[in-house]
Amino acid sequence: MERLETGVQGLDDMLFGGLPSGNQVIVAGGPGSGKTLLSFEILYRNAKMGRPGVFFALEERSEELLKNVKEVFTSFTDLDSLIKKKMILVNGEDTSRRLLSDSGSSTYAFGNVVSDIESAIREIGAKVVVIDSISLLKLVVGDELTYRRSMLALVSDLRRLGVTSLLTVETQSSERKALKFGPEFFIFDGILIMYQSGEEYKRALTAEVVKMRGSDHSWALTPYEITSSGFRMFTVEQS
Ligand SMILES: Nc1ncnc2c1ncn2[C@@H]1O[C@H](COP(=O)(O)OP(=O)(O)OP(=O)(O)O)[C@@H](O)[C@H]1O
Ligand SMILES: [Mg+2]
Repeated sequence: MERLETGVQGLDDMLFGGLPSGNQVIVAGGPGSGKTLLSFEILYRNAKMGRPGVFFALEERSEELLKNVKEVFTSFTDLDSLIKKKMILVNGEDTSRRLLSDSGSSTYAFGNVVSDIESAIREIGAKVVVIDSISLLKLVVGDELTYRRSMLALVSDLRRLGVTSLLTVETQSSERKALKFGPEFFIFDGILIMYQSGEEYKRALTAEVVKMRGSDHSWALTPYEITSSGFRMFTVEQS
């Protein structure tokens, strides 16, 4: 099976080599767990390995996202040049503006998002795509049945385009024991969940791969940290 290395320290060990190419993977977690930053780092690492990627920031302006990424990952000094070379395309404002202001039907608004995604992928020949976050789409689409249908349509579109994708999802709780699975957890190929457990003086960050179709993976709850040179997953093998 072909795999797409994430390039993130420790994450490829958790994935037994990387994400199965063409898989659509959910990156879920509570607020501030690092979903946006981790997905961005995967895109960045892939761009450095010669694989172009698109980042869809549905809830943030591109400038804000990039400012934040640069503030955290101070060692990503070649980020601007990768963007200039079209190895990374950050797409935000237009899509989210359209989503939020579209007075037509929600299915129509969703269709527009999908076509935006498709043209961005074609523009740079992207191999990796991030959609941050699909929780916004849930709000736009409204009822559960239409949401499920839209997600299925999104899955088949991404599959047709042959990209490996990361879709962030907000979970209601940051704690593992309180986790509830929405419909998107069943539709997509893989799930990576990031938790923050509430210790009184120190927050503990852990991640686990809950499913990855077509591949075995680590079953360990893996501690991680966010550093200025990227994420670091402390896999069993390393710690
Ligand atoms: N300079 C830094 N060094 C290390 N960690 C940082 C730094 N700045 C922010 N962080 C961590 O990154 C987290 C934010 O990451 P990110 O924006 O990816 O989270 P998220 O899961 O996407 O959140 P949201 O659900 O709000 O979109 C913060 O909660 C903080 O813990
Ligand atoms: Mg985020």
